[in-house]
Amino acid sequence: MSLEYALEKFPLPVKLKNGTPCMIRPLTKRDEARLQRFFQGVPEVERLFIKKRPTERRVVREWCRKVDFEKNLVLLMLHGPTVAGEVTLHQRQGGWKRHIGVITVLTHPDYRGVDAAKLLVDQIVQVAAHLGLRKLEAELNGERKVAIRAMEQLGFTQLFRLSDYVLDMESKPHDYVVMTLNLRTDEEYAGVG
Ligand SMILES: CC(C)(COP(=O)(O)OP(=O)(O)OC[C@H]1O[C@@H](n2cnc3c(N)ncnc32)[C@H](O)[C@@H]1OP(=O)(O)O)[C@@H](O)C(=O)NCCC(=O)NCCS
Repeated sequence: MSLEYALEKFPLPVKLKNGTPCMIRPLTKRDEARLQRFFQGVPEVERLFIKKRPTERRVVREWCRKVDFEKNLVLLMLHGPTVAGEVTLHQRQGGWKRHIGVITVLTHPDYRGVDAAKLLVDQIVQVAAHLGLRKLEAELNGERKVAIRAMEQLGFTQLFRLSDYVLDMESKPHDYVVMTLNLRTDEEYAGVG
């Protein structure tokens, strides 16, 4: 199915567990400043899996200006003008892991524990299934027990853990954990009616 069709339902109004009304929609060129503020509010150790420093203005500018949803699809959760969270689906462009999407999910500390990640992951799971992906992977810092538990609650299971395998910005090693989720195809969804 085409990406355009998979994104047709957005912007999507949602409600957090505490009743806060939010909107989920894909990233646009105009989100640069609000996305910058969002990353500044998230502790650095929680952003380890992001390849480039998102607190650098030019990095976020590049993300917003060179949007390529076929490679990296970013869904934002907005509370008014404020970014409450984001989820990114990275699709490989070929090769033997082309059926496995990689996701990252990050929520602002002010919006934790009220289903922000759950709502974002639900949406990206549906989009990924529509696009024909069969599995999702998420990479985590093994010390972030809360994040691992949260991903388990969202249906992911641990694929493997490697001790002291990744480095943070101060070159301190951390365990590397990869978690996975099997996706149901559109046909399987149709089967359950
Ligand atoms: C992991 C993270 C995304 C969770 O975000 P969140 O918005 O607080 O999560 P939600 O409120 O949607 O909760 C999702 C599930 O995790 C559980 N959960 C959330 N916070 C929890 C906590 N502190 N302790 C235990 N479980 C927790 C919830 O119970 C929920 O499951 P349930 O409703 O089925 O019981 C957030 O902590 C974060 O951004 N961490 C840094 C980035 C990261 O490590 N991302 C994951 C790898 S890509």
